[in-house]
Amino acid sequence: MEDRTMTITPDIQYIGVNDHDIDLFEGQYGVPYGMAYNSYVIFDEKIAVLDTVDKHFTDEWMGNLKKALDGKKPDYLIIHHMECDHTGSIAAFVKEFPETTLVATAKAFTMLQRFHPEFTHTDDQKIAVKEGDKLSLGKHELTFIMAPMVHWPEVMFSYDACDKVLFSADAFGSFGANDLMPQDDDEEDGVKFPEKYCLREARRYYIGIVGKYGPQVQAVLKKAANLDIEMICALHGCIKKGDLSEYLEDYDIWSSYGVDDEGVLICYTTVYNHTEKAAFKLKEKLEAKGQEVRIYDLARCEMSEAVADAFNYGKVVLATTTYNADIFPFMKTYIDWLKERNFQNRKIGFIENGSWAPAAARIMKGLLDGTKNTFCENVVTLPSIMTAESEAQMDALVEELLSD
Ligand code: FEO
Repeated sequence: MEDRTMTITPDIQYIGVNDHDIDLFEGQYGVPYGMAYNSYVIFDEKIAVLDTVDKHFTDEWMGNLKKALDGKKPDYLIIHHMECDHTGSIAAFVKEFPETTLVATAKAFTMLQRFHPEFTHTDDQKIAVKEGDKLSLGKHELTFIMAPMVHWPEVMFSYDACDKVLFSADAFGSFGANDLMPQDDDEEDGVKFPEKYCLREARRYYIGIVGKYGPQVQAVLKKAANLDIEMICALHGCIKKGDLSEYLEDYDIWSSYGVDDEGVLICYTTVYNHTEKAAFKLKEKLEAKGQEVRIYDLARCEMSEAVADAFNYGKVVLATTTYNADIFPFMKTYIDWLKERNFQNRKIGFIENGSWAPAAARIMKGLLDGTKNTFCENVVTLPSIMTAESEAQMDALVEELLSD
């Protein structure tokens, strides 16, 4: 079995696993670079294991754990988050180390019992922690920080003041296995753990998984701002160390629904390529004005990428056809995904197509009504194909998009 253990600090070992078999993370997010389920062990007078991994990797993870333990027994299993990608190996752990005390929030223990009604832990085998509680392992002392809804209600972080490490559960995570991630501006695979950080995959992960809960992320960021952190160990993605300001700034922007990159996102659906042609014409006009433009065909792209970019750029144009007195299904789904994640603070333009009763712009505006976004007044209407009139409308839309 491949050795995945790695020294994080002299007392902290990485024992996580990489998943290259997964097709859709959480049943909906494409993960072309796979996924990592991180897990750690702190060695001190007492030994604490921090989280387990997905059940498909129990054997590999248990091998990593036993190698790291080298015959020792763990005293504590800290459960930061009850979602199955991190708790899928708890049953195997408890069977192997029945004397271990479980440490989690009270909510997590309720969930644990729901997932594992067979567990018969007595109260003296469980420690339910709350905000500010501490657990001494010796020179390492963990302080627990409640992080509800980042990404489930039972979530907590822990902070080790000795090594200045924040264990951040899902926060600061990313899509991608730790041994197969591209770097930004470098699409080649094989960048070695742990130096890499792919902003696009981290943003797509954040917006997809936690995007709805910006205020809750802001609340926990405020608590973290009071800590002296030299390293962030999340449950997914690379370990972050050194200058952490980049990651903290990213999270601050994303969780406050700010604009990360200047530019325009165009998302379209198309039936006979006429709406697509108009979308690309708009792209051409915007680029001629020096704008960065990203464009997605919603029927063919990874939906979560198009969603993440809607939260990345400050200006978004939606182009679709009128269809069955409604709008084309992929656009409807896209708008649903945006709304589920509290889409806001954007300037939105519309292109509609309709051969006999164009209504797509009105319907899209109706779907987005109440979302704290601004709609452009200039709407482009294609009465089947681009006409001179629709091109004039597009020029007006370009001017409006670029005016601030
Ligand atoms: Fe990585 Fe919310 O679980």
